[in-house]
Amino acid sequence: MPTALIILAAGQGTRMLSDTPKVLHRLAGAPLLVHAMEAGRALEAARTVVVAGHGGAAVADAARAHDPEAITVTQEEQLGTGHAVAQAMPALSGFAGDAVVLFGDTPFIRPETLAAMREARQAGHDVVVLGFEAAEPGRYGRLVMDGDRLTRIVEAKDATDEERAIKLCNSGVICASAETLSTLVGAIGNDNAAGEYYLTDIVGLANLRGLSCTAIRCDEAETLGVNTRADLARAEAVFQDRARTEAMAGGVTLTAPETVFFAHDTVIGRDTVIGPNVIFGPGVTVESGAEIRGFCHLEGCHVSHGATVGPFARLRPGAELANDVHVGNFVEVKNAVIDDGAKVNHLTYIGDAHVGARSNIGAGTITCNYDGVMKHRTEIGADAFIGSSTMLVAPVNIGARAMTGSGSVITEDVPDGALAIARGKQSNKPGLGIRLIERLRAIKARKTN
Ligand code: UD1
Ligand code: CA
Repeated sequence: MPTALIILAAGQGTRMLSDTPKVLHRLAGAPLLVHAMEAGRALEAARTVVVAGHGGAAVADAARAHDPEAITVTQEEQLGTGHAVAQAMPALSGFAGDAVVLFGDTPFIRPETLAAMREARQAGHDVVVLGFEAAEPGRYGRLVMDGDRLTRIVEAKDATDEERAIKLCNSGVICASAETLSTLVGAIGNDNAAGEYYLTDIVGLANLRGLSCTAIRCDEAETLGVNTRADLARAEAVFQDRARTEAMAGGVTLTAPETVFFAHDTVIGRDTVIGPNVIFGPGVTVESGAEIRGFCHLEGCHVSHGATVGPFARLRPGAELANDVHVGNFVEVKNAVIDDGAKVNHLTYIGDAHVGARSNIGAGTITCNYDGVMKHRTEIGADAFIGSSTMLVAPVNIGARAMTGSGSVITEDVPDGALAIARGKQSNKPGLGIRLIERLRAIKARKTN
């Protein structure tokens, strides 16, 4: 049975006190919306419909940046979750299958949970709602059960004291056939305490029509929603905690797990060792048996088997380290391939470049890649030796097995095997050192007397 995903993301997020729509605030480097879309990926959704409202264009852009096939619809006025789903239904016309409703601000729904909901649908229930036992049910909608049957959902605002005592709450995730959902959503009214069209009313309506409704239960942690900056920080902590546990379970050593921060898409191979205070931005893959020492920052890069990075190194987007490469302290690499076994150990910037296999880049080397207007490339062949503090003024090519003298400013290509020296020639003045110091001391003595 094909599945469609409807993600509600039109809410204003008033309590964030932000000019950015709530679902575009980032968790582990990706907008909240992307986490919800990823949760839905497990369903292999045939269609994904994102309902945007506040900051609609930016939300729609983010949705399509993540999934170019995502359909976005606008809910001009936020008249309630039922109204929001109604806006999505035209985008599902002609779709024969199940529809799953998720909230854009609820990032942790697990694929296993969505699979369990789908099983309940296959077992013959018409409407399946995801519930959880809340420690503090507070403002959540309550699930009114009769054995396995879900008879209705009542919002806290509209509940009797007896109903408010129910601990089983509505997560907001609902699954039904697109056809059933469309029919039921069309029948919702807004005669309630909030004057809103409640999606939750579809359960009572379904029961009236003799349809079968049930609830699947999940852990409360899964339904954690983000409404405030404090919630966002809490969600980040939850994410990081899980990511660290998963990394270690996958055979990665973290010497100080609580100080390592992963992005939503970080991939680390087994037997890699990660030191303290390492931060992964989006788009990082590290192969097995690598070592990332303390205080490194990595983003949009790939580190191959056996490579060592840091301490205090920064790998920026497009950095590609081949096997057994060494990148040491205070080194920045951007948009550059560093081939097998090459070493860039100290105080260096390598940008828009290719470093050949086994080459050694001396301390303080800089690829001068930017002329103020355009970026240019530096090509360094295999087995080259770049002397300390060489300025490589791009575009420039350094041949295989070539060398540059320390302190050189290289503006022209260096042929294979050549030594290039490009700096002022040294001249020694006999005795001048001593005479100069004595003169300076005399000047100082006159000033202080
Ligand atoms: C909703 C549920 C409640 C449940 C709770 C779980 C309803 C009526 N209530 O309440 O039973 O316990 O979630 O967190 O469904 N949205 C729109 N358009 C709208 C209104 C909301 O897109 O017009 C989106 C919001 O952006 C948000 C989601 O729907 O992502 C939930 O809306 P919200 O107003 O937070 O619902 P709750 O009152 O929390
Ligand atoms: Ca909410």
